[in-house]
Amino acid sequence: MALVEYDISLGLASACGLNAGLTEDQLDAVSPRVYAAIDELEQLSGRPEGFFLDLPDRDTEAEEALARRFREQFTDMVVLGIGGSSLGARAVHRALTLRYTGRFRDGREHDGLRLHFVENVDPVDFDDLLTELDLSTTAFNVITKSGTTIETMSSFFVIRDRLIAQFGHEGYRERVVATTDPNSGALRKLVEEDRLHSLPVPAGVGGRFSVLSAVGTFPLMCAGVDVDDLLRGASIARSSVHKRDLMSNPAALFGAAQFLFVERGCGDVVFMPYVQQLADFSDWFVQLWAESLGKRTADGTSVGPTPMPAIGVRDQHSLLQLFMEGPISRNIVFLEDLNLPTRVEVPEAPTATPELQHLGGRQLDEILRAELKGVSAGLREASRPTSIFRLAGVNEQSLGALILVLEAATAITGSLLGVNPYDQPGVELGKRYAHGLLGREGYDEYRRRMSAWEEKAQRRVSSI
Ligand code: PA5
Repeated sequence: MALVEYDISLGLASACGLNAGLTEDQLDAVSPRVYAAIDELEQLSGRPEGFFLDLPDRDTEAEEALARRFREQFTDMVVLGIGGSSLGARAVHRALTLRYTGRFRDGREHDGLRLHFVENVDPVDFDDLLTELDLSTTAFNVITKSGTTIETMSSFFVIRDRLIAQFGHEGYRERVVATTDPNSGALRKLVEEDRLHSLPVPAGVGGRFSVLSAVGTFPLMCAGVDVDDLLRGASIARSSVHKRDLMSNPAALFGAAQFLFVERGCGDVVFMPYVQQLADFSDWFVQLWAESLGKRTADGTSVGPTPMPAIGVRDQHSLLQLFMEGPISRNIVFLEDLNLPTRVEVPEAPTATPELQHLGGRQLDEILRAELKGVSAGLREASRPTSIFRLAGVNEQSLGALILVLEAATAITGSLLGVNPYDQPGVELGKRYAHGLLGREGYDEYRRRMSAWEEKAQRRVSSI
């Protein structure tokens, strides 16, 4: 069984019609451009500043030693980070562990920390967490590549203050690891001054491509995830990314298909795992796709397929109606676990419900699979393009491979669309306005621009 496979059969015109479906000729015609995008990826690999494709090979010994110490000393770890500095680790962690205890779903010996992800500056949520945690047994991993992200740094300053007040400076130092740019940024300066443990985010790896760097791997190691296996899976996937053959390179086929769907007007992409524990992968994928591809091209044209998270079967009772009968502006990408465990059997239905007798004796995984098949068939009949990723089980290797395939596919699609997938000028602009509003030195211009706009703004507010 393949570790990860991508099946576009139900997105082909032979399945869902010529209106939205892709033809073999279209795939053949786009492949030279896909291979040119792979050339670009290869040119970016091996740079001293790092590149996401090189992350599977890095030496993790120092990181593992630090994680071992933290596992011995603490019971919990709070990860302070946002966007690419949080979503990847959260997705892998939730995929492998039980929600409430942090124990591994596959029953392996657990000596890891419980992870808690703080991704917002919501006062209630943050306060709830601090109220519930025992700070004496809790470690903190503050993750920000730039070192100036408002949300992360303001939460961290609160934590820093509390830790110093409760445990003194040494006690604070012992409890914190900062993951940030190796040389620059405000957090790097604080690392030096406070003499904090720190880990680098390679300069050439952007947030949303960084889950396989210390950004993702350190908290995962602390939780007891087998990071060697995660990187091994990514490394296996990476060797396929170089292949100039769509049928043995899932990243290339996915990138090619998504680019062609954009051209055909159905490029908005719904990422819909039929695996509950992979729901957070949708959040990770959505951020990766949106922030990498929603851009202006060199000639100023705005491009960007909209990604949408969904989860099967839950969203069959929510979004599916739109997918079946709404405009054909999107394609749906399913994610299936071919090794879904058989754990729960439905007992014989009560005699009062004779119309549901056929459910008795069925396994829940059998029902889930039937639902996915049924929905795929329905969407095919409605001429809606779909495709599917299949995983050989939910484990570190398959997740590492899936991460790398989707990252490479994003970069390939970016090249095909003519955008730089690695920057995020739109996000930066919003950050600059927020800094200006909060009074950061040198950012007055943004506050002034906002006030000028607010003075002129026409108001229409409806209230009760
Ligand atoms: O992918 C990205 O670059 C962003 O989502 C960043 O990860 C996010 O904005 C957080 O940035 P930082 O790590 O600098 O705090």
